[in-house]
Order: sequence, then C-alpha cells, then structure tokens
Amino acid sequence: MKRLDLIASLLKGYDVAVDIGSDHGYVLKYALDNNYIKRGIASEIAEGPLNNAKSNLKDYPVTFYLSDGFDKINEKFDIGIISGMGVYTIMDILSKAPQAEYLLQPNDKHEILRDYLSKNNFQIIDEHITFDKFFYIVIHVKPGVEILSEEDIYLGPKLKHKKEARKYYKLKLSQLNEIYQKCDTKTKEKISKYINLLKGVIT
Ligand SMILES: C[S@@+](CC[C@H](N)C(=O)[O-])C[C@H]1O[C@@H](n2cnc3c(N)ncnc32)[C@H](O)[C@@H]1O
Repeated sequence: MKRLDLIASLLKGYDVAVDIGSDHGYVLKYALDNNYIKRGIASEIAEGPLNNAKSNLKDYPVTFYLSDGFDKINEKFDIGIISGMGVYTIMDILSKAPQAEYLLQPNDKHEILRDYLSKNNFQIIDEHITFDKFFYIVIHVKPGVEILSEEDIYLGPKLKHKKEARKYYKLKLSQLNEIYQKCDTKTKEKISKYINLLKGVIT
C-alpha cells in the first residue's frame, strides 16, 4: 500500500481530520473521495503549497489556513496528521498542538520521535509500515502515559510485533552491519546494541 493511501485509510471512522503541512492536499482528497472522513482542515506554512491544496480540493468540504502548525486553527477536529517531515519539525508542531489523536509519519529517526512521545504524554496506539520506494512508518498516538523500553523506542512497541515489518528490520540490520565493518571501536560499541535488538526481532 502506498504511503498517502495508507495514511488516508487510517482516517476511517473519524469525522474531521486536520492535515498540518498538507502540501498538495492529497491525503484529505483520498480520505474524502473514499468517504473515510466528512470534513477536512488543511494547514500550510507556505503559500504555494496551500494554493495547490486549494486547487486540488476545490468544492471539497475543507477549510484552509496559512499557519505555522496549529497557530491559526481554532476549529475542533477528531484526528490530526503530521506527515512527510523531519522528526524535529514534527516534534515542534506537536509541542504546540492541542491534546488529540495524531498520525505521525516522520521521514526518519523514528526512535527520536518515540522517545519524545513517551516523555511528552503521548501513548502509541499502533504503528503501520508500507513500502513506497522506501519504507514509511506511521505512528498513531493519543494523549496518555507510556513508559517505553530502549527496545520499544528503537524498534517500535507495536511495529516490532508485525510480520510486515520484518523486511524493514532486515534492511536496517544489513545497513548497520555494513557500517560496523568500517567504523572505529567506539562506534562499534554503540551500534552493536542496535544490531542485537534487530537480530532479536528478526529471528
Ligand atoms: C514534504 S511536505 C509533506 C507533505 C504531506 N504532508 C505529505 O505527507 O506528503 C512538508 C510540507 O509541510 C509544510 N510545513 C513544514 N513545516 C510546517 C509547519 N510548521 N506548519 C505547517 N506546515 C508546515 C511544508 O511547507 C511542506 O509543504
């Protein structure tokens, strides 16, 4: 399943979704075309992408905001999407976001986001993975207390139980093994911990 289809499909059962950094507006378009949601809210920090969303979502039940994250949004919503960005941007947006459910899809460094979530009153409800030229992970969160182990932070507390994540872990393991061959002793010590975590979940 492709990245944007996956995110849109996860909106099933929610009435109003807000997409922060909506860019072209495709996630809301897919979700509305498939009747997964009733209404959408699109937020963009940049005018160009916001105009693209406006033209792709013309006559759709969507309101548009030129806004840094949630700054200008005062509408109620059932679920938020923050996808296709770096973890630090996602964490910055989340730090000023209303307490709610979110679908988060960082481009990489998932462990940094999971660590942030566990320290900032978010609980991981589920994690999904798809391959769309690269592997993409969507982390579904809600407000709540959750203590994550180092293994959970690195592998994902839900993802590590999923059969469809095996190929992703195998790829990560082969990348780390390659680095291990070439790096200095200090780095070897650091990454051998992650190599062992990956080996544990693959076998
Ligand atoms: C790479 S695109 C990803 C678009 C889409 N969410 C996706 O998953 O394909 C990131 C978009 O987020 C927007 N963006 C970045 N920081 C933002 C912020 N703080 N508030 C709103 N939009 C932001 C950018 O302008 C850009 O259009």
